Amino acid sequence: MEIKLAECAGFCFGVKRAIDTVYEQIETGKTIYTYGPIVHNEEVVRELEQKGVCVIEGEEELAACSAAAGGTEGGANAGPSVIIRAHGIPRRTQELMEQYGLECIDATCPFVKRIHRIVEKAGEQGMHVVIAGNSGHPEVEGIRGWCGGPVTVVETEAEAERFVPEEGRQVCLVSQTTFNYNKFQSIVEIFRKKGYNGNIVSTICNATEDRQRSAQALAAEADVMIVIGGKHSSNSRKLYEICSRECAHTYFIQTLDDLHLELPKAVRLVGITAGASTPNNLIEEVQNYVRINF
Ligand code: F3S
Repeated sequence: MEIKLAECAGFCFGVKRAIDTVYEQIETGKTIYTYGPIVHNEEVVRELEQKGVCVIEGEEELAACSAAAGGTEGGANAGPSVIIRAHGIPRRTQELMEQYGLECIDATCPFVKRIHRIVEKAGEQGMHVVIAGNSGHPEVEGIRGWCGGPVTVVETEAEAERFVPEEGRQVCLVSQTTFNYNKFQSIVEIFRKKGYNGNIVSTICNATEDRQRSAQALAAEADVMIVIGGKHSSNSRKLYEICSRECAHTYFIQTLDDLHLELPKAVRLVGITAGASTPNNLIEEVQNYVRINF
C-alpha cells in the first residue's frame, strides 16, 4: 500500500508568517494577545496558551485587557501587544486597539492586506463592493470593514444572480482568499452577463488554488483520502468537499485521535492532504500512523 502526501499541503505562507510573529513576540517577554485564534487549529492555539499567549475574542474584550495591563485610553503603545492574525481585521477594530493604548502588531497576510487596499480604494471611488465569500467568516468581515461604501457578500451563484448594485454605482468584485476557484469564475461570468464590468479582481490566493488542485488530483487516484484540518477552518472544509467528490472514502480529521480508519484489503493508495492551518508535525504523525498500522 502506498501513502502519498498532496504536493501542496499544510501551512501556507501567510499563516506561517503570523505564527512566526507570535513566537518572535513571545521572546520579548511582553504580554501578548492574539485577536482571535492565530490559526484555526486548536492544537496550535493550546500550545501558544501554554506559553502565555491569550486570545481576545472580540472588541468588547479590548478595553478589559488594556485596563488589566495598566494601559491608558489614548496612550498609544502603553499597554500589551495584540497580534492581528493572517485573516486581518476591520479598520474600526484596529483603530480601537490604538485608542486603548494597545500595541497593534499586524500579521495580516499581505495577500489579504492587498484586498483591504483594493476595497478601500473602490469605496473612495464610490463603487459597490461585492465580496465572493462566506459571510461571517473573519476574513470576510475584515474585508467588509475596509469598504468605505456599500458592500455585499455573495456566497453562491444564485445570490450573484439576485444581486443588484446601488443605483449609479459601479461594481468592484473581490473574493475571500480561500474561495472556490470554479465558483468564483461562475460568479464572474454572471456579473459579465449582467454588464457589471467595473473592477473584477480575482483575489483567491495561489496557496489555496494549488492546495485544492493537488488535493483533487490525488483524491482522483486514491482509494482512501484523509483531510487534516481544523473544524472551523473553511479552507480545510473545502478540501474535504473537493476530495469527497473524487473519492468516496474521504475522512476529515482534526487530530490523529479522530482517525478511525478501517481500510479494506484492496486499498492501494492512501492520499493525505491538509488545510492551511495544519502544522507539519500533525501531518507527519498521521502519515506515520497509517504507514505503521496498515
Ligand atoms: Fe495568505 Fe493565502 Fe495563506 S492569503 S493566509 S497565504 S491562504
